Amino acid sequence: MCGIVGYSGPNNSVGPIIEGLSRLEYRGYDSAGICLKINNELQILKKEGKLDNLKSLIQEKKPFSHIGIGHTRWATHGAVTADNAHPHGNELFAVVHNGIIENAGALKKELQKEGFEFKSQTDSEVFLVLLTKFFKESKNVLSSISKAFSTITGNSAFVIIEKQSDKLYCLKRSAPLVVGDNKETREAFVSSDPFALVGFAPRIYFPEDSVICESSVNSSEVTIKFYELNLTPSNRYKIQGNAMSVDITSKGPYEHFMLKEIHEQPYLVEKLAAYYIKDEGRKILDQLVNFKTDCWHITACGTAWHAGLVIKNYLEQINRQRASVEIASEFRYKNPIINQKEIGLFISQSGETADTLACQELCKESGISSFAIVNVEGSTLYRNSDKNFLIHAGIEIGVASTKAFTLQVLTGYLMSRSMKSSLDDPKLFIELKLLSTRISELCSESDKIKKIAEKIYHQKGFIFTGRGKYFPIALEGALKLKEIAYVHAEGYAAGELKHGPIALIDEEIVNIAIIGPELFEKTISNIEEVKARRGKIVVIGPDHNAEIEHLSDAYLGLNFEGLNDLSPLYVNVALQLLSYHIAYLKGTDIDKPRNLAKSVTVE
Ligand code: F6R
Repeated sequence: MCGIVGYSGPNNSVGPIIEGLSRLEYRGYDSAGICLKINNELQILKKEGKLDNLKSLIQEKKPFSHIGIGHTRWATHGAVTADNAHPHGNELFAVVHNGIIENAGALKKELQKEGFEFKSQTDSEVFLVLLTKFFKESKNVLSSISKAFSTITGNSAFVIIEKQSDKLYCLKRSAPLVVGDNKETREAFVSSDPFALVGFAPRIYFPEDSVICESSVNSSEVTIKFYELNLTPSNRYKIQGNAMSVDITSKGPYEHFMLKEIHEQPYLVEKLAAYYIKDEGRKILDQLVNFKTDCWHITACGTAWHAGLVIKNYLEQINRQRASVEIASEFRYKNPIINQKEIGLFISQSGETADTLACQELCKESGISSFAIVNVEGSTLYRNSDKNFLIHAGIEIGVASTKAFTLQVLTGYLMSRSMKSSLDDPKLFIELKLLSTRISELCSESDKIKKIAEKIYHQKGFIFTGRGKYFPIALEGALKLKEIAYVHAEGYAAGELKHGPIALIDEEIVNIAIIGPELFEKTISNIEEVKARRGKIVVIGPDHNAEIEHLSDAYLGLNFEGLNDLSPLYVNVALQLLSYHIAYLKGTDIDKPRNLAKSVTVE
């Protein structure tokens, strides 16, 4: 979603702001802007489209300013135009915003009646106008920020600069926002993501909700102050070092981050296995020995929800414990039945997904413990959980999630195994090592998958099918393809095809059929039905099988031997590569697909 970067210090703010926004580009956006205080005026430059458009404008104007705020916008209220791009500013303040002001419509009407004018169609400008109105009444910046923030509803983060000082102000409600400083260089920063501040701010502050942060820099020091909304000093924030390195932003030898991240999986699988079985992570899993709950309420969105579906199978099949998996945006509004001996399990790469966070809140209010399978340490989900199971995927830059899915499922698998029997079982480590090897083999045979992609990339629609433990993989395969190749793709349980979707089948449709060694004959019958209706058949199934060879238009043979419960992950990597090659042939923007955002911080 929207990216935010702010700077105050002795240098030209343009450099760190633009560098920070470039690092956040992967999250998805459709316009960009910057506000700089120059000669005591707030000057705003905004452009529709890619950050490069804004960079060209900056190149032309060559502005210099010691304080500024920048923003990449992912449109919610109002079309993608330069007017609607952030920052929004007037003669007193400039504001950038991430999130949604839910009561913006009503507030705007009232403010218009009072004579205030609006330059954009955004909800964000409502905050600017409220702030201005309260400031004109009180002449006090902090109290005006507090009052404006208390007037709006919904989840949001704001950064504010003002004409009369060189201070950066920010605050948030259930939206990501961090503050950073560098005491040596006397610089202060604000961002929606600590990643934007890597190499700039060695120290990161994580303010809690509704805490106003005021950063100021003078010739001898940088000062960061925190206030409650009643303007008393606040200690509701955490401090952490920023240990990330800038190198992680490189694609290495790969053409896309997505491909790089697919290829990182063999190494990451082994690293995660070592962490949870042999190293520090073992202490965390050992706490689960003999752990039982009446029901696991798993909630997540998108790919993470698919990971939840695989994990549910583990909890039910390995542990015989009940698990419900729900899409977070559904769970939060369904008045769910939650009993005291149950557990909330939240799965999220970013740890900032608004709907997943709302489910966590709901479970906490119901008095049950909250566990998280999460990638970003220090994220809101991480901070609000009773127990965290980190997936250690490193930063995932490709908008379409690949390695995070694999490691989410693997973490769930290890949790499930630790509840069942000792993790010292040498077979477990061998099984995980085998998964890593098989994924590595798949990556090195990527050309084979590319050849399949060449046969089918021009087809009109794709139906992914799988049974049992491969059904979630069919859903995930279809999601990946539609995200990055912009083609219609759906995932179905193989047995469900004849209950409706089969009406879609003709020669323009491809059935990507996942066939595991289990329920083999039944799944073969399903593809016979598709073939009889002239659909194209691509099978991902056990290798060296003459029957499949005969039935399919293209066939990727896999070696399932010894993978047992981990085979869905193996198959999924084949589908990740297939989607990648199809998208490549179609020439789409693979790392930053249109309309998508990496971390969905609004409902
Ligand atoms: C798909 C994808 C999304 C995310 C979803 C949840 O490739 O990346 O479907 O999985 O938006 O995001 P997180 O895991 O950050 O909560």
